[in-house]
Amino acid sequence: MNVRLGERSGDTSPARSGGEKVRIEGLGKSFGAGSRRTTALQDFSLTIDDGEFICIVGPSGCGKTTALRIVAGLEQPTVGSVRVVPSSDQVGRPLNAMVFQEHGLFPWLTVIDNVAFGLEVRGLSRRERHRQVEPFLKTIGLLKFRDHYPGQLSGGMRQRVSLARALVTDPEVLLMDEPFAALDAQNRILMQDELLRLWEDARKTVVFITHSIDEAIALSDRIVVMSANPGRIKEVIPVPFARPRSVAELRADVRFGELSLHIWRSLKDEVQTARQTEGIGMP
Ligand SMILES: Nc1ncnc2c1ncn2[C@@H]1O[C@H](COP(=O)(O)OP(=O)(O)OP(=O)(O)O)[C@@H](O)[C@H]1O
Ligand SMILES: [Mg+2]
Repeated sequence: MNVRLGERSGDTSPARSGGEKVRIEGLGKSFGAGSRRTTALQDFSLTIDDGEFICIVGPSGCGKTTALRIVAGLEQPTVGSVRVVPSSDQVGRPLNAMVFQEHGLFPWLTVIDNVAFGLEVRGLSRRERHRQVEPFLKTIGLLKFRDHYPGQLSGGMRQRVSLARALVTDPEVLLMDEPFAALDAQNRILMQDELLRLWEDARKTVVFITHSIDEAIALSDRIVVMSANPGRIKEVIPVPFARPRSVAELRADVRFGELSLHIWRSLKDEVQTARQTEGIGMP
Protein backbone atom coordinates (compact mmCIF):
# COMPACT_ATOMS: atom_id res chain seq x y z
CA MET A 1 0.00 0.00 0.00
CA ASN A 2 1.40 3.33 -0.95
CA VAL A 3 0.18 6.40 0.90
CA ARG A 4 0.91 9.80 -0.52
CA LEU A 5 0.22 13.37 0.32
CA GLY A 6 -3.31 14.44 -0.33
CA GLU A 7 -4.83 11.01 0.23
CA ARG A 8 -5.98 11.87 3.71
CA SER A 9 -9.43 13.09 4.46
CA GLY A 10 -11.26 14.35 7.52
CA ASP A 11 -8.15 15.35 9.42
CA THR A 12 -8.57 18.80 10.95
CA SER A 13 -5.11 19.04 12.45
CA PRO A 14 -3.00 21.89 11.08
CA ALA A 15 0.15 19.78 11.23
CA ARG A 16 0.98 19.27 7.62
CA SER A 17 1.77 22.63 6.18
CA GLY A 18 5.49 21.98 6.06
CA GLY A 19 5.60 19.59 3.09
CA GLU A 20 7.14 16.19 2.83
CA LYS A 21 9.57 15.13 5.56
CA VAL A 22 10.03 11.38 5.27
CA ARG A 23 9.57 9.24 2.21
CA ILE A 24 9.64 5.49 2.75
CA GLU A 25 9.44 3.51 -0.46
CA GLY A 26 8.97 -0.22 -0.98
CA LEU A 27 10.75 -1.17 2.20
CA GLY A 28 11.39 -4.87 2.75
CA LYS A 29 13.51 -6.69 5.28
CA SER A 30 14.37 -10.37 5.62
CA PHE A 31 16.41 -11.98 8.36
CA GLY A 32 18.34 -15.24 8.18
CA ALA A 33 18.99 -17.50 5.22
CA GLY A 34 17.64 -20.70 3.66
CA SER A 35 14.84 -22.39 5.59
CA ARG A 36 15.38 -20.00 8.50
CA ARG A 37 14.76 -16.94 6.39
CA THR A 38 11.93 -14.78 7.69
CA THR A 39 10.43 -11.77 6.01
CA ALA A 40 9.88 -9.21 8.73
CA LEU A 41 8.71 -6.39 6.50
CA GLN A 42 7.30 -6.24 2.99
CA ASP A 43 6.34 -3.46 0.62
CA PHE A 44 6.19 -0.78 3.32
CA SER A 45 5.66 2.63 1.72
CA LEU A 46 4.64 5.79 3.52
CA THR A 47 5.11 9.50 3.01
CA ILE A 48 5.11 11.60 6.18
CA ASP A 49 4.69 15.36 6.26
CA ASP A 50 6.81 17.79 8.23
CA GLY A 51 5.32 18.14 11.70
CA GLU A 52 3.05 15.15 11.33
CA PHE A 53 2.48 12.70 14.18
CA ILE A 54 2.23 9.11 12.94
CA CYS A 55 1.41 6.11 15.14
CA ILE A 56 2.07 2.54 14.06
CA VAL A 57 0.02 -0.29 15.54
CA GLY A 58 0.18 -3.99 14.72
CA PRO A 59 0.49 -7.44 16.23
CA SER A 60 3.62 -8.47 18.03
CA GLY A 61 6.37 -9.49 15.60
CA CYS A 62 4.85 -7.73 12.56
CA GLY A 63 7.94 -5.62 11.96
CA LYS A 64 7.17 -2.30 13.65
CA THR A 65 10.53 -2.04 15.41
CA THR A 66 12.30 -3.26 12.29
CA ALA A 67 10.66 -0.49 10.23
CA LEU A 68 11.60 2.15 12.81
CA ARG A 69 15.18 0.91 13.06
CA ILE A 70 15.51 1.13 9.28
CA VAL A 71 14.17 4.71 9.31
CA ALA A 72 16.70 5.46 12.08
CA GLY A 73 19.51 4.03 9.96
CA LEU A 74 20.25 1.37 12.60
CA GLU A 75 19.29 -1.41 10.20
CA GLN A 76 19.75 -1.79 6.44
CA PRO A 77 16.66 -2.68 4.39
CA THR A 78 16.81 -5.71 2.09
CA VAL A 79 14.96 -3.63 -0.50
CA GLY A 80 13.49 -0.15 -0.63
CA SER A 81 14.61 3.26 0.52
CA VAL A 82 14.09 5.89 3.20
CA ARG A 83 14.64 9.57 2.61
CA VAL A 84 14.47 12.16 5.36
CA VAL A 85 14.28 15.67 3.93
CA PRO A 86 16.64 17.89 5.93
CA SER A 87 15.53 21.35 7.02
CA SER A 88 17.11 24.09 5.01
CA ASP A 89 17.54 26.36 8.03
CA GLN A 90 19.73 24.22 10.23
CA VAL A 91 23.04 22.63 9.46
CA GLY A 92 24.36 19.81 11.65
CA ARG A 93 20.96 18.82 12.98
CA PRO A 94 20.64 15.05 13.53
CA LEU A 95 18.24 13.35 11.13
CA ASN A 96 16.55 11.49 13.94
CA ALA A 97 16.56 10.62 17.62
CA MET A 98 15.07 7.50 19.16
CA VAL A 99 13.22 6.94 22.43
CA PHE A 100 12.81 3.31 23.47
CA GLN A 101 10.54 1.50 25.90
CA GLU A 102 13.60 0.76 27.99
CA HIS A 103 14.73 4.31 28.36
CA GLY A 104 18.41 3.44 28.10
CA LEU A 105 19.69 6.19 30.38
CA PHE A 106 23.26 5.99 31.60
CA PRO A 107 22.99 5.02 35.28
CA TRP A 108 26.34 6.62 36.11
CA LEU A 109 25.34 10.04 34.74
CA THR A 110 23.10 12.57 36.49
CA VAL A 111 19.82 13.69 34.95
CA ILE A 112 21.37 16.80 33.44
CA ASP A 113 24.36 14.91 32.03
CA ASN A 114 22.07 12.25 30.58
CA VAL A 115 20.01 14.91 28.79
CA ALA A 116 23.13 16.77 27.71
CA PHE A 117 24.70 13.61 26.33
CA GLY A 118 23.27 14.13 22.84
CA LEU A 119 25.02 17.49 22.63
CA GLU A 120 28.48 16.07 23.31
CA VAL A 121 29.05 15.20 19.69
CA ARG A 122 28.72 18.89 18.87
CA GLY A 123 31.89 19.58 20.79
CA LEU A 124 30.29 21.98 23.29
CA SER A 125 31.79 22.47 26.73
CA ARG A 126 30.03 20.82 29.66
CA ARG A 127 29.01 24.24 30.94
CA GLU A 128 27.50 25.21 27.59
CA ARG A 129 25.71 21.87 27.30
CA HIS A 130 24.18 22.38 30.73
CA ARG A 131 23.11 25.89 29.79
CA GLN A 132 21.28 24.57 26.72
CA VAL A 133 19.70 21.68 28.58
CA GLU A 134 18.28 23.55 31.57
CA PRO A 135 15.22 24.98 29.76
CA PHE A 136 14.30 21.43 28.69
CA LEU A 137 14.58 20.17 32.26
CA LYS A 138 12.35 23.01 33.35
CA THR A 139 9.77 22.19 30.65
CA ILE A 140 9.55 18.58 31.74
CA GLY A 141 9.50 19.54 35.43
CA LEU A 142 12.79 17.92 36.33
CA LEU A 143 15.03 20.91 37.01
CA LYS A 144 14.94 20.13 40.74
CA PHE A 145 16.22 16.65 39.96
CA ARG A 146 19.08 17.75 37.71
CA ASP A 147 21.74 16.22 39.94
CA HIS A 148 19.88 12.97 40.68
CA TYR A 149 20.90 9.67 39.12
CA PRO A 150 18.39 7.58 37.07
CA GLY A 151 18.22 5.00 39.88
CA GLN A 152 16.78 7.68 42.16
CA LEU A 153 13.87 8.46 39.81
CA SER A 154 10.47 6.87 39.17
CA GLY A 155 9.78 5.14 35.84
CA GLY A 156 7.75 8.13 34.61
CA MET A 157 10.52 10.55 35.49
CA ARG A 158 13.11 8.40 33.75
CA GLN A 159 10.98 8.33 30.62
CA ARG A 160 10.73 12.13 30.75
CA VAL A 161 14.52 12.35 30.94
CA SER A 162 14.70 10.06 27.93
CA LEU A 163 12.30 12.25 26.00
CA ALA A 164 14.20 15.41 26.92
CA ARG A 165 17.45 13.78 25.81
CA ALA A 166 15.95 13.10 22.39
CA LEU A 167 14.36 16.56 22.04
CA VAL A 168 17.41 18.53 23.11
CA THR A 169 19.28 17.53 19.96
CA ASP A 170 16.45 19.03 17.88
CA PRO A 171 16.23 16.06 15.50
CA GLU A 172 14.45 16.26 12.17
CA VAL A 173 12.33 13.25 13.14
CA LEU A 174 11.57 11.78 16.55
CA LEU A 175 11.24 7.99 16.51
CA MET A 176 9.56 6.42 19.53
CA ASP A 177 9.25 2.67 20.11
CA GLU A 178 6.58 1.97 22.74
CA PRO A 179 8.05 4.65 25.00
CA PHE A 180 5.25 4.56 27.58
CA ALA A 181 4.57 0.82 27.62
CA ALA A 182 6.22 0.27 30.98
CA LEU A 183 4.31 3.05 32.76
CA ASP A 184 1.21 2.61 34.93
CA ALA A 185 -2.10 3.77 33.45
CA GLN A 186 -2.24 7.18 35.14
CA ASN A 187 1.38 8.06 34.45
CA ARG A 188 0.88 6.96 30.89
CA ILE A 189 -1.96 9.44 30.36
CA LEU A 190 0.09 12.20 32.00
CA MET A 191 3.04 11.40 29.73
CA GLN A 192 0.79 11.40 26.67
CA ASP A 193 -0.48 14.86 27.64
CA GLU A 194 3.07 16.01 28.26
CA LEU A 195 4.26 14.70 24.91
CA LEU A 196 1.33 16.44 23.18
CA ARG A 197 2.20 19.69 24.92
CA LEU A 198 5.85 19.43 23.88
CA TRP A 199 4.84 18.45 20.38
CA GLU A 200 2.46 21.42 20.09
CA ASP A 201 5.44 23.69 20.82
CA ALA A 202 8.05 21.98 18.69
CA ARG A 203 5.89 20.42 15.94
CA LYS A 204 8.44 17.71 15.34
CA THR A 205 7.73 14.97 12.88
CA VAL A 206 7.07 11.93 15.08
CA VAL A 207 6.80 8.22 14.34
CA PHE A 208 5.49 6.47 17.44
CA ILE A 209 4.95 2.72 17.88
CA THR A 210 2.34 1.56 20.35
CA HIS A 211 0.21 -1.46 21.18
CA SER A 212 -2.44 0.81 22.65
CA ILE A 213 -5.21 1.81 20.25
CA ASP A 214 -6.33 4.58 22.61
CA GLU A 215 -2.82 5.98 22.78
CA ALA A 216 -2.56 5.98 18.99
CA ILE A 217 -5.85 7.87 18.61
CA ALA A 218 -5.00 10.35 21.35
CA LEU A 219 -1.63 11.27 19.90
CA SER A 220 -1.56 10.95 16.17
CA ASP A 221 -2.64 12.59 12.93
CA ARG A 222 -2.68 9.25 11.14
CA ILE A 223 -2.57 5.67 12.37
CA VAL A 224 -0.78 3.01 10.34
CA VAL A 225 -2.27 -0.44 11.00
CA MET A 226 0.13 -3.25 10.09
CA SER A 227 -0.73 -6.82 9.18
CA ALA A 228 0.79 -9.95 10.67
CA ASN A 229 3.78 -11.57 9.02
CA PRO A 230 5.05 -10.54 6.70
CA GLY A 231 4.53 -7.04 8.08
CA ARG A 232 2.80 -4.80 5.59
CA ILE A 233 0.66 -1.72 5.85
CA LYS A 234 -2.94 -2.87 6.09
CA GLU A 235 -4.65 0.47 6.53
CA VAL A 236 -3.81 4.13 7.16
CA ILE A 237 -6.47 5.89 9.22
CA PRO A 238 -6.72 9.68 9.61
CA VAL A 239 -7.52 10.82 13.15
CA PRO A 240 -10.19 13.54 12.99
CA PHE A 241 -9.68 15.26 16.34
CA ALA A 242 -8.64 18.91 16.42
CA ARG A 243 -5.64 20.06 18.41
CA PRO A 244 -4.64 20.91 21.04
CA ARG A 245 -5.98 17.73 22.58
CA SER A 246 -6.42 16.58 26.14
CA VAL A 247 -6.11 12.82 26.33
CA ALA A 248 -8.56 12.34 29.22
CA GLU A 249 -11.22 14.58 27.61
CA LEU A 250 -10.79 12.98 24.20
CA ARG A 251 -11.75 9.61 25.64
CA ALA A 252 -15.21 10.97 26.47
CA ASP A 253 -15.89 11.81 22.80
CA VAL A 254 -18.23 9.31 21.14
CA ARG A 255 -16.14 9.37 17.94
CA PHE A 256 -13.20 8.16 20.00
CA GLY A 257 -15.07 4.93 20.82
CA GLU A 258 -16.12 4.44 17.20
CA LEU A 259 -12.59 4.91 15.89
CA SER A 260 -11.20 2.65 18.59
CA LEU A 261 -13.66 -0.11 17.60
CA HIS A 262 -12.79 0.27 13.92
CA ILE A 263 -9.07 -0.09 14.64
CA TRP A 264 -9.64 -2.99 17.01
CA ARG A 265 -11.57 -4.86 14.31
CA SER A 266 -8.83 -4.15 11.80
CA LEU A 267 -6.21 -5.41 14.24
CA LYS A 268 -8.06 -8.39 15.67
CA ASP A 269 -7.66 -10.61 12.60
CA GLU A 270 -3.98 -9.73 12.44
CA VAL A 271 -3.39 -10.50 16.10
CA GLN A 272 -5.16 -13.84 15.67
CA THR A 273 -3.04 -14.64 12.60
CA ALA A 274 0.10 -13.77 14.56
CA ARG A 275 -0.98 -15.97 17.47
CA GLN A 276 -1.67 -18.90 15.15
CA THR A 277 1.76 -18.50 13.58
CA GLU A 278 3.29 -18.62 17.03
CA GLY A 279 1.12 -21.62 17.99
CA ILE A 280 -0.70 -19.73 20.74
CA GLY A 281 -4.18 -21.09 21.41
CA MET A 282 -3.64 -24.03 19.06
CA PRO A 283 -4.37 -27.59 20.23
N1 LIG B 1 18.00 -9.16 14.31
C1 LIG B 1 17.06 -10.04 13.97
N2 LIG B 1 17.40 -11.27 13.53
C2 LIG B 1 16.45 -12.15 13.14
N3 LIG B 1 15.13 -11.90 13.17
C3 LIG B 1 14.74 -10.71 13.60
C4 LIG B 1 15.68 -9.70 14.03
N4 LIG B 1 14.99 -8.59 14.40
C5 LIG B 1 13.68 -8.91 14.23
N5 LIG B 1 13.53 -10.16 13.74
C6 LIG B 1 12.27 -10.80 13.39
O1 LIG B 1 11.54 -9.92 12.57
C7 LIG B 1 10.16 -9.94 12.91
C8 LIG B 1 9.68 -8.55 13.26
O2 LIG B 1 10.29 -8.14 14.50
P1 LIG B 1 10.02 -6.72 15.15
O3 LIG B 1 10.83 -6.64 16.38
O4 LIG B 1 10.23 -5.68 14.12
O5 LIG B 1 8.48 -6.82 15.51
P2 LIG B 1 7.55 -5.80 16.32
O6 LIG B 1 6.37 -5.54 15.45
O7 LIG B 1 8.35 -4.65 16.78
O8 LIG B 1 7.08 -6.71 17.56
P3 LIG B 1 6.70 -6.25 19.08
O9 LIG B 1 5.33 -5.63 18.99
O10 LIG B 1 6.66 -7.54 19.82
O11 LIG B 1 7.76 -5.31 19.55
C9 LIG B 1 10.01 -10.98 14.02
O12 LIG B 1 9.65 -12.21 13.46
C10 LIG B 1 11.40 -11.06 14.61
O13 LIG B 1 11.63 -12.32 15.16
MG1 LIG C 1 8.86 -3.91 18.66
